[in-house]
This record gives sequence, C-alpha cells and structure tokens, in this order.
Amino acid sequence: MNIPEQRIQIALQKSGRLTDHSLDLLSRCGLKFTRSRDQLFCYGENMPIDILLVRDDDIPALVSDDVCDLGIAGLNVVHEKRLQIGTDEQPAMFDQVYSLDFGHCRLAIAAPKDTEYCGPSTLQGSRIATSYPASVAEFLQQHGIDADIVYLSGAVEIATRLGRADFICDLVCTGSTLAANQLREVQTVFESNAVVIQTRAPLSQTKQDLVDRILQRVNGVLQVQESKYVMLHAPRSALKEIAALLPGSESPTIIPLEGFDDKVAIHVVCRENVFWETLENLKAVGASSLLVLPVEKMLV
Ligand code: PRP
Ligand code: ZN
Repeated sequence: MNIPEQRIQIALQKSGRLTDHSLDLLSRCGLKFTRSRDQLFCYGENMPIDILLVRDDDIPALVSDDVCDLGIAGLNVVHEKRLQIGTDEQPAMFDQVYSLDFGHCRLAIAAPKDTEYCGPSTLQGSRIATSYPASVAEFLQQHGIDADIVYLSGAVEIATRLGRADFICDLVCTGSTLAANQLREVQTVFESNAVVIQTRAPLSQTKQDLVDRILQRVNGVLQVQESKYVMLHAPRSALKEIAALLPGSESPTIIPLEGFDDKVAIHVVCRENVFWETLENLKAVGASSLLVLPVEKMLV
C-alpha cells in the first residue's frame, strides 16, 4: 500500500517585517525550500515541510484551527487572537513555544499632535480606533477606564483625521506611519516581538516527531545565536575567578599546557554574548591568549 507522505505546514507572514527573518530561521534549521511562482507557498525539498505565506493576522487562527502545525507571528496578533478566540475554560488551541529576537515593535496609543495626554485617565469617555479591539479592551479594563472602541481592519492611522475617533491604538515599529499622519505616540499598551506557536491539536506520530525535530533545531539555532566558544590560557591559581567571569558557562575543559606546571588552557562554551569588557576583566585576573569563536550548531 502506498501511504501518502505526511507533511507539516508552517505559517509565516507573506510580506512584512517578519518574513525575511522567519525564512532565514527555517533555513538555519537546515530546511531547503523552493518558493512557488505566486510567492504564497514554499515547498520543502529536503524535509516534508511546507511553508504557507499568509497575512500575519491570520497566522494564530490557522494554527489554532490545525490548518498549520506551526507558525511564526508577532506577539501583537498572537495576544489579540488569544483574547478573541480563547476563554478561561477553553483557551485558544495553540501554545507559544519560543520567543524570537526579531520583529520588535509595540502596540501603542497615539493622539493627534495637539491633543494633551496625561496618562490612561485621559482616555475616559473617548473613542479609540484600532484593529486590536480585544487588546485595547484588556488595557482599558486593567486601568479601570470606560471608552468606546471603534474597530477598523486597516488604515487606522487616518481615523482621527476623519473624525471617527479621538485616539488610535496601532502597531508602531519605526514610528514613521504615525509621523506621516501627524500623530504622537502617547502610551505603550504592550511590547511585541516574533514568537513561534504550535497547534494543540493532536497530530499523528509521524507529524509529531517532525514537529518536535524542527522545534529542537529552532532551539539549537536560538542557543547558538548567543553562544560563543572561548579559549584562553590562565594560571591555575586564577581558575575560580575566571570561571566566575565567563557568562553562562558550564563545566569548562581544563587542558595542561606543555612546559608549564602553573598554567592551563581553558575551553568553554558561554551561553551568553562575550563582550570586550569581559575579555578585559579576564585579562586583569591573569588570563592570556584569549580567543572567542562563534558556535555554528548546537544540539543539547
Ligand atoms: C503596522 C501598523 C502600521 C505600521 C507601523 O502594520 O499597522 O501601519 O506597521 O510601522 P512603522 O512604525 O514602522 O511605520 P503591519 O506591518 O502589521 O501591517 P498590516 O497592518 O497590513 O498587517
Ligand atoms: Zn498585520
């Protein structure tokens, strides 16, 4: 019998601030893919994995509904969808599994340049236009504010000029959209960055194994980004001080140095970035011949 190959689907943003970084992350996980002519689909050549390129706002629902097994989206849309489709008894059907160091932006309230703002209480009784109604409602509730939320699916930044709202609440990255519309950012609602989400729907063993494998590789890539392999020479007497200075290191390898009884070589993987200051501090306690190398792959 011919069993059809079970492929997993990963949803990514089709064009925007997360697209290149998301594709790059999957490439670094060893996935090779070809992009379809319409640019909406990538076929994994060396693993049974397909990438669906969709609107970022649609990613949480696609993963929750089990159309896709994994997704990379901004916390802004993940949080909003979690509030919209989940309840305390029945949470949204996805889990946030990794936080990624890209797509940094914030959901913020902005006001016309000449509107005064003295904290959340200024919003009392106002109209706030947004594509993030649940996140805004949560913010208002946390601050005990009663205001009208005007839902708009796009072009939120022109709502105050059109007289539809007094404030807007939208995503701010560089701030150029606000500046171009004579708006002033007055209040951060929450900080956002890209996250990996995984469906909670039960998968076949084959698919689950593949999802686990790709997530393990994502974890490896994330660990490597911050990790450095450090090599140095040091007097035996300074070993304790040196170990304390190496950031995020575990069990260094100590190697005898030919021709020296009192000096050793130390090799260690540091799980945090190693800055010039660290090297200067190491040198100050007697270390020499310091070398810091990037780590290419890591599987722990
Ligand atoms: C957001 C937001 C603004 C823009 C802000 O849109 O709606 O339009 O980015 O970025 P800036 O501060 O750098 O100008 P998003 O990328 O989510 O696109 P979408 O609203 O079409 O999904
Ligand atoms: Zn969007």
